[in-house]
Amino acid sequence: MDLASYKPTGKLKNKHMLTLMDYSTEEIFELLSCAIELKRKQYAHEKHEYLAGKTLAMIFEKSSTRTRLSFEQGIKQLGGSPIFLSSRDIQLGRGEPIRDTVRVMERMNIDGIMIRTFKQSDLDELAKYGHIPVINGLTDDFHPCQVLADLLTVYEEFGTFKGKKLVFFGEGFNMANSLMLGCAKVGMDVTICSPEGLGPRPEIIRAAQDAAFDGAKVVVTDNIGEAVSGADAVYTDVFFSMGQTKDPVKEAALMPMQVNAAMMAKANPGAIFLHCLPAHRGEEVTDEVLEGAYSRIFPEAENRLHAQKAVMYLLMKD
Ligand code: CP
Ligand code: NVA
Repeated sequence: MDLASYKPTGKLKNKHMLTLMDYSTEEIFELLSCAIELKRKQYAHEKHEYLAGKTLAMIFEKSSTRTRLSFEQGIKQLGGSPIFLSSRDIQLGRGEPIRDTVRVMERMNIDGIMIRTFKQSDLDELAKYGHIPVINGLTDDFHPCQVLADLLTVYEEFGTFKGKKLVFFGEGFNMANSLMLGCAKVGMDVTICSPEGLGPRPEIIRAAQDAAFDGAKVVVTDNIGEAVSGADAVYTDVFFSMGQTKDPVKEAALMPMQVNAAMMAKANPGAIFLHCLPAHRGEEVTDEVLEGAYSRIFPEAENRLHAQKAVMYLLMKD
């Protein structure tokens, strides 16, 4: 099985998207092949209003540019409507339980919930008490929708996952966790390079290793040279994620992993640079790399739209 020859089955209806832990290789290919087709249709100006009459509620407990834009624009392009709910404005922010909020949403004929929050367990509660597909728009643990866009960008660049390697430099937080799972499950080698004590949790490493497809290697190391060697995609994320407080000790530990031109020169010829964005120039990455010929950050951001449309379409369709 590979993405090029994958035949969509359309069988993700009503599934939640809480983490890529719950998605098989086949299901990820299903989402990616759908994203490729929806992107083609959009570029060809072919109508694809498959979610006409459907409503997506979007709950944000943290800020967002790309996630909000891609889901809001995406549901409109699919013929449906978004409802933006900031936790600053709704009763959830004043302590109304998640389990009550989701049951109210159901009574208002909401067809899908996208949530960006802190605790992964809040998503589990939404999923437990409601019957509406719940989509993770980022938690402290995972960012699966971003990784679908990242995988699409890698596939568009190289035409295959087999024999390719992605290296992530940074803390074992939401991006590292989801990249490790996503890359392993599509059959791409993945290395997470984190300073000692800042790596991903062992159970997530094990889950990625156990689910690796087609012999993909999952490596976690603090050895920068080993990590970047042979890399076809170099990825990094901010030193301090939303909700974290600045810590000079952590910053000093992460600084040697900064992705700069010298780092990119150690990757494979033709390697690309990826970043979920927003980026902090001069911290985890230099301006030169972000603006360099190998940077794919804006096609990657655009792919959020196509990937998120695939998620909504496959999970929310009749
Ligand atoms: N990459 C990403 O999720 O961006 P936003 O925080 O702007 O949504
Ligand atoms: N790790 C970052 C990703 C932002 C898209 C954060 O959680 O803030």
